[in-house]
Amino acid sequence: MPDNPVITIDGPSGVGKGTVCLFLARETGWHLLDSGAIYRVLAYAALSRKISLEDEHSLSDLACDLNVVFKRSNSEEKLSIFLENKEITEQIRTEECGNAASKVAKYPLVRKALLNRQRGFSKPPGLIADGRDMGTVVFPDARVKIFLNASPEERVNRRYKQLKEQGFSVTLARLSAEIAERDTRDQLRTESPLKPAPDAVVIDTTDLMIEQVINQIWDIIKQDISEFS
Ligand code: DC
Repeated sequence: MPDNPVITIDGPSGVGKGTVCLFLARETGWHLLDSGAIYRVLAYAALSRKISLEDEHSLSDLACDLNVVFKRSNSEEKLSIFLENKEITEQIRTEECGNAASKVAKYPLVRKALLNRQRGFSKPPGLIADGRDMGTVVFPDARVKIFLNASPEERVNRRYKQLKEQGFSVTLARLSAEIAERDTRDQLRTESPLKPAPDAVVIDTTDLMIEQVINQIWDIIKQDISEFS
């Protein structure tokens, strides 16, 4: 059994991984890796520095030097993100930034540059890792692997509600097109494509409330959590 247990939660855009992972990290007192946020910060930094999203070498150099810090607030309900000591928590949550993140994430050199940074989040007492390739590539020996899925329509609705609540201006038609584009890119790339690990538990959340999803996951992981607390 590894010293630092890892629970991976993978799945496509808008499936609700972020909410589930923040809740699990708070309940367990474990660390949290929001790997999508790392790709978003990289895309944000590239756009700010006018680095082309097609320049794999420059993007991987930028990824190696990325000075990004994650802080969980006292209530542990929010993850604050800093690039070069400047808070960019809100800026990276736009769909534009999510789409740019998906573009930079397709490059093997970029993923390689970010691999050890992500593995570095695994510390005692344990880690909840949120992403696309957590169970397949970054933490293949994870104690428990969960893959969340939901119909594209339901994911668009969930993301629409979330973005509206955060005050972003967005239309359903545009969001639907952007999520479809992102799904295709994330699933079809050759390097670490989005797919469940062979040993992952796949949960279709289309008809489930977030509380039901959390309850199902909790039933799967509670044994592991109690062994480490
Ligand atoms: O989870 P998210 O929406 O914040 O992720 C943004 C993009 O980053 C996503 O479309 C693909 C990429 N990503 C990835 O390739 N691998 C991960 N482990 C996490 C995110």
